[in-house]
Amino acid sequence: MSATEQANPPADPPANPMDKLWDYMKGFHAVHHMAMGVEMDLFKKIHEAGNDGCSPAKLAAGLELHPLYVDVWCRTGYHYGILEAGENGAFCLAEMMDAALVNTSDPRNLAGYLRATVSYGSDDLRSYPEYFRSGGAHRFQEHGEEFSRHVGDATAGFHTVLAKRMLGGVPGLADKLEAGGKVLDVGCGIGGLMIKVAQAWPNAHCVGVDIDPFGINQAQANIAASDVADRLVVEAVGPDGIGHDGEFDLAIMMEVLHEIDDGIRPDVVRDVAKSLKPGGMLFILDETYPSDLAGLRDPSYNFAVQTQFNELIWGNIVPTIEMQTELFANAGLVETIRQDVGGMFTMLVATKE
Ligand SMILES: C[S@@+](CC[C@H](N)C(=O)[O-])C[C@H]1O[C@@H](n2cnc3c(N)ncnc32)[C@H](O)[C@@H]1O
Repeated sequence: MSATEQANPPADPPANPMDKLWDYMKGFHAVHHMAMGVEMDLFKKIHEAGNDGCSPAKLAAGLELHPLYVDVWCRTGYHYGILEAGENGAFCLAEMMDAALVNTSDPRNLAGYLRATVSYGSDDLRSYPEYFRSGGAHRFQEHGEEFSRHVGDATAGFHTVLAKRMLGGVPGLADKLEAGGKVLDVGCGIGGLMIKVAQAWPNAHCVGVDIDPFGINQAQANIAASDVADRLVVEAVGPDGIGHDGEFDLAIMMEVLHEIDDGIRPDVVRDVAKSLKPGGMLFILDETYPSDLAGLRDPSYNFAVQTQFNELIWGNIVPTIEMQTELFANAGLVETIRQDVGGMFTMLVATKE
């Protein structure tokens, strides 16, 4: 096999090359179909009807919607395999769709992600030609208050799993957290993860830091309304950085490393390492960008490639494994765990020497 063939494995060749493009068109419509089904409680009502399902007429009547439109929405959902046929013309949810589209506390739930994609993602993508010409950026923090909340909702399902199961599975970490460990949540957003960490580890204390004023305000409100407010503090990152020295047993970055401006990323990771105690750990859950052309067609990088394109005008650069390794080395951190999570994320643990 030639070097060119090795670098260009076929991208799942369909029977007819045009089919691929029609599949992408179908994906565009399916995303809108699902997002409106979430927004208008269509999936919720079908789920509540149980295994026998709900007829389009009953669904429309219950939600006071146009019967013909709801009928076509149901038939389209059946075509996509999101809905299945129930009894007597009724439709029910296909396998796993309750987790993905109804139950917002399930880590597989896509409701927040679908909503953010349809609302903010569409607006961003529509303005790409303008930004491609100007080279400008429309950063995460410039999207506004509601956007920061939507992002927090999109990541919420993962917070429960990360806080208890994933952190508890890191050798040596559970003991530290049970003994009253101090946690730094870097890029805490609206504070959902900090709250879950404090609930999962009743002796742990957590400081959340972020550069997004909308996130900070919402985090403060969410923490005040939680049952763990006495163990949580939120701070805005100022020009002097995080401003803690040798204090934390654990720093967490959930969907944050790729969001940090790459011009300052080495300084931020060094700053995070400085805030850790010797032996303290940095836990990262984030995308890893493929390092070569073969990786761009490897399905395990699907989410990373998609994120890089979606977030291009936010000024985000999704780091490759080589970039992650260099960031750790420059900050005096030693990588101890690297693991694929759900074919979407990389879990990384790096320890301060
Ligand atoms: C995708 S959000 C994730 C928020 C949160 N970790 C979660 O799981 O919902 C990325 C967050 O990183 C924050 N961020 C970006 N650069 C940062 C920096 N230099 N220091 C602290 N936070 C930063 C953003 O403002 C945003 O709130």
